[in-house]
Amino acid sequence: MTTPLTLTPEQPLVPGWATGTITLGCDYNPEQWDESVWHDDIALMRELGVDLVAINIFGWAQLQPQPGPFDFSRLDRILSMLHEAGIRVNLGTGTSSPPPWLARVHPETLPQFANGTLAWPGGRQAWCPSSVVFRQKAIELVTAMAERYGNHPAVAVWHVSNELGCHNALCYCDASARAFRTWLRARYGTLDALNSAWGTAFWSQRYGTWDDVLPPRATRSAGNPAQLLDFKRFSSDELLDYYRAEAAVLREHSSVPVTTNLMVTAHIQTLDYFSWAPELDFIANDHYLDHRLADPLAELAFSADLTRGLAAGQPWMVMETSTSAVSWQPVNHAKREGELLRTVLGHVARGADSICFFQWRASRSGAEKFHSALLPHSGTAGQGWAQSVELSSVLDRLNPVVGSRVHARAALVFSWEAWWAAEGDSHPSSLLRYLPEAHRYHRALRALGITVDMVAPGTDLTSYDLVVVPTLYTVTDAASVAIADAAAAGATVLITPFTGIVDERDTVIAGGYPGAFRELLGLTIDEFRPLAAEATVSLSSGAHGSIWTDAVRVTDAEIVASYSDGPAAASPAITRRPVGSGTAWYVSTVLDDDSLLRLARDLAADAGVPIVEVGYDVDVVTRQTDTHHITFIINHRSEPIAVPYAGLDLVSGETVTDATPLPAGAVRVVISERSDRGA
Ligand code: GAL
Repeated sequence: MTTPLTLTPEQPLVPGWATGTITLGCDYNPEQWDESVWHDDIALMRELGVDLVAINIFGWAQLQPQPGPFDFSRLDRILSMLHEAGIRVNLGTGTSSPPPWLARVHPETLPQFANGTLAWPGGRQAWCPSSVVFRQKAIELVTAMAERYGNHPAVAVWHVSNELGCHNALCYCDASARAFRTWLRARYGTLDALNSAWGTAFWSQRYGTWDDVLPPRATRSAGNPAQLLDFKRFSSDELLDYYRAEAAVLREHSSVPVTTNLMVTAHIQTLDYFSWAPELDFIANDHYLDHRLADPLAELAFSADLTRGLAAGQPWMVMETSTSAVSWQPVNHAKREGELLRTVLGHVARGADSICFFQWRASRSGAEKFHSALLPHSGTAGQGWAQSVELSSVLDRLNPVVGSRVHARAALVFSWEAWWAAEGDSHPSSLLRYLPEAHRYHRALRALGITVDMVAPGTDLTSYDLVVVPTLYTVTDAASVAIADAAAAGATVLITPFTGIVDERDTVIAGGYPGAFRELLGLTIDEFRPLAAEATVSLSSGAHGSIWTDAVRVTDAEIVASYSDGPAAASPAITRRPVGSGTAWYVSTVLDDDSLLRLARDLAADAGVPIVEVGYDVDVVTRQTDTHHITFIINHRSEPIAVPYAGLDLVSGETVTDATPLPAGAVRVVISERSDRGA
């Protein structure tokens, strides 16, 4: 028996699409299989406890193999079969990839690269987000789908398109150029305002007519950075507008929640999901371990925290992940023993209440035939299926977690706009990368057992004790005020290199860097002094840095450490300024891992945030209800660890004490009554 939980009225037990249990789901592509296989599939789904199945994600070509009427007969049948089996459907609108005939009949729907070449059909998402013809054809399909299935009892979720912008977010064709101009007119009103915002007095770029304004197509020299930044904004908005068009049709015909699967991940940066999030009835993310990164597990934690940020703390769904290897990385690593459970719980710990996989049955042909699946090529006889069964049974035991929330005392200000702008051309150093900086601060806090909320610039930060602002190169006034307010209200705020340098037009805030935070930090940077690729610098505190240094002039701050060598020798490197009841820290270099961890400890101490020294390969995250704490401890290490959490372990069903070691590779989900109730 698990301890009963009580939830406060503000914490509805489950959002509309969920059932009060942890949902186990998957993508299913019945169009790849003969109908005789469907019966086996559905029987095995029931055996495994799958209760949400995404279908029709890539169904368009089967529904409409030629221009003309749709044939829904197979889709009707699979929907009925799933419904009869008691399996809910996450119904794809099917518009993600058009059938081959669309490119033949309407070649103008194909997307164009920056150098003018076309992306051809044969892969997926070969469509221009600004194509009027594509949208018309897609909306015809969505309307037919919504009319037919809007009230179908099996349909629990509408799944708009698929991973919008995964391959086609940036299109440079003439239709995109026209749409870009319309977007710019709405943003700037006049051509003069555009010329001013883009700084076109530079390099003879001044526009005399709107018709000359183009997407940032391939150039021989560096392009205009403000134009590039606006094109990224436009491209995100354009696909969001497309999502809205599909969602509007679905909402007109159906009361079922509408969402789409986001890609909060290291290798896709094209959509500003903070602007998308309010349009989704609930947040769903696709996440795959990325073995091209130095620490894929740290990135998983980052992605999950950021997804919770998009969900504004509400429960969210992993709409796709893999049981083992993917098929799109240079080397596709299989998951090690226990890794499936560990990675899944990494998401659940951070607020996911639904775990769905790509995909149900491994494809036998096509580009993803070596991608893992709940039901692998080896069928039910192999180890893969056994792991799926084990996972399902652990998820069943975690049902008491559903509806509980993650509470974090630390926040990291994350911004897609800053990411786009910070990584533009012609900066002091191309070695300073936005996302790795954000990852590294998050990773250091995770290694200290500190849970981090990821928030958009401009969010009210006054309830946090610790606020980290990595490389927020471009800032609005609202964002800089919110950060300063957090410090004044008592938070420890850390600002890192190349933050607060330009406004939202990518125009330098004059008067000494960082223009937006000079006063808050009590310092001025006269000059950036970046380092060569392999160079490092030493700090008086014993810390080490690389990539970046600044010539810092302190006006009103304590010097925590100075540069002992390098191009900024003798300049302050780390500073701290008491502000109101809080503090504002600046670090002007990219600290190595050990130095960063030491700084994170100092910041936590300054902020009064408790730490648990778990290291980089252990996750400790607590979800809570009004009455209980539920702490996830995930040991990615190949040795046992000691963890100070006592209570009932939902995974093993045993009561554990502070002294019960957690074996190598094992997970524990400890539920205990809150000692701080009423606090
Ligand atoms: C996602 C996509 C799925 C499948 C999966 C493979 O990007 O939505 O359709 O391709 O990756 O990992």
